[in-house]
Amino acid sequence: MDQHPATRVVHQPTPTLPNSHPISVPLYQASNFAFDDPDALAEALGAPDRGFVYSRYGNPTTRALEETVAELEGGAAAVATASGMGAVTSALMGVLKTGDHVIAQNCLYGGTFAALSYLHEHFGVEVSYVPGEDPAEVAAAVRPNTKMLYLETIANPVTRVVDLPAFLRAGKEAGLVTVVDYTFATPLLCQPIRHGADVVLHSITKYLGGHSDVTAGILVFADDERYRHGWHHTMEMGAMIDPFASWLTLRGIQTLALRMRQHCANAGRIAELLAAHPAVEKVHYPGLPTHPDHEVARRVLSDFGGVVSFDLAGGRDAGYAFTKGVRLVKLAASLGGVETMALHPASTSHRQLDAAALRAAGIAEGTIRLSVGIEHIDDIWTDLSQALA
Ligand SMILES: Cc1ncc(COP(=O)(O)O)c(C=O)c1O
Repeated sequence: MDQHPATRVVHQPTPTLPNSHPISVPLYQASNFAFDDPDALAEALGAPDRGFVYSRYGNPTTRALEETVAELEGGAAAVATASGMGAVTSALMGVLKTGDHVIAQNCLYGGTFAALSYLHEHFGVEVSYVPGEDPAEVAAAVRPNTKMLYLETIANPVTRVVDLPAFLRAGKEAGLVTVVDYTFATPLLCQPIRHGADVVLHSITKYLGGHSDVTAGILVFADDERYRHGWHHTMEMGAMIDPFASWLTLRGIQTLALRMRQHCANAGRIAELLAAHPAVEKVHYPGLPTHPDHEVARRVLSDFGGVVSFDLAGGRDAGYAFTKGVRLVKLAASLGGVETMALHPASTSHRQLDAAALRAAGIAEGTIRLSVGIEHIDDIWTDLSQALA
């Protein structure tokens, strides 16, 4: 890619018409495509790049989204899915078989924990969780049946940042398929495929969509063979995205660079203000020198992201009271939209975890996850301070 990501997100692949081309990608809200030639129809059913036949197999609007994100990530090709969890389960089930073993970071989105538990209970897939602090954890956890290393960074909700180059190297040395959920960091802060990841996935619902109006996901594959397998699996399982969601995402992605700059700037300032507040015991933000992964984040990421988590000194009751007290800031389960949103993970997104698993994931009873939006910083802080008070 010779142009900067901020340019590539604006100029998306548009179709050519007889004497011109549209400036924005059109919405092809069609489930089905008609052919003159029966052989061409048959061929289009068998591969992702032989024409559009049926929108579960592929759609021109969706393809423009897939090409845009694949290029941003430096991957061979991408498959967009109906949700972030569609991408997570497709990445897992497209590779794993009964009896296989996965090494996963212990700091994961709650839904991913649930998917791994389901695969264990129903299909006998074994999982070992590692802290994600030392790449030697990979070699120590490897078994003869280990197939996959699954990482999430920046990790939900306490913003741990894995040393991606070192962990991916360790995964490759052990012959594993390496998968990275990169939802929080977006392709703008770092591109894991450039560090050796085989598959990168995003919940588009968050920053890529960016406006809290689309539910979708995407898988980006480092090489063509893995892409074709991933396309086939995702299409057969029916996890494909709807064209309208692709169109909304393309529209959202055009301002990704602009939005991420503001998310990161606001989050950095809010993290500093929270760290100085007496009601706050601890702030988790990779941009703060006190964060355990600050040095890794400085080396691996170009900025520190829009999510700040913090532990309230008053524990669970204080966490609950805080989420009742916010006004401008929305109490909401998702993140990555233009508006600031707060969540109390122990009672919501991570409710599947018992006390020990919560502790292992670094989540306290009074942890609040804040997805810092792009509003004026003074208005965000005014609301947070009155809720803290
Ligand atoms: C890191 C991460 N991965 C995956 C998902 C799942 O995405 P979706 O809700 O779009 O299915 C989420 C949702 O919050 C997430 O935070």
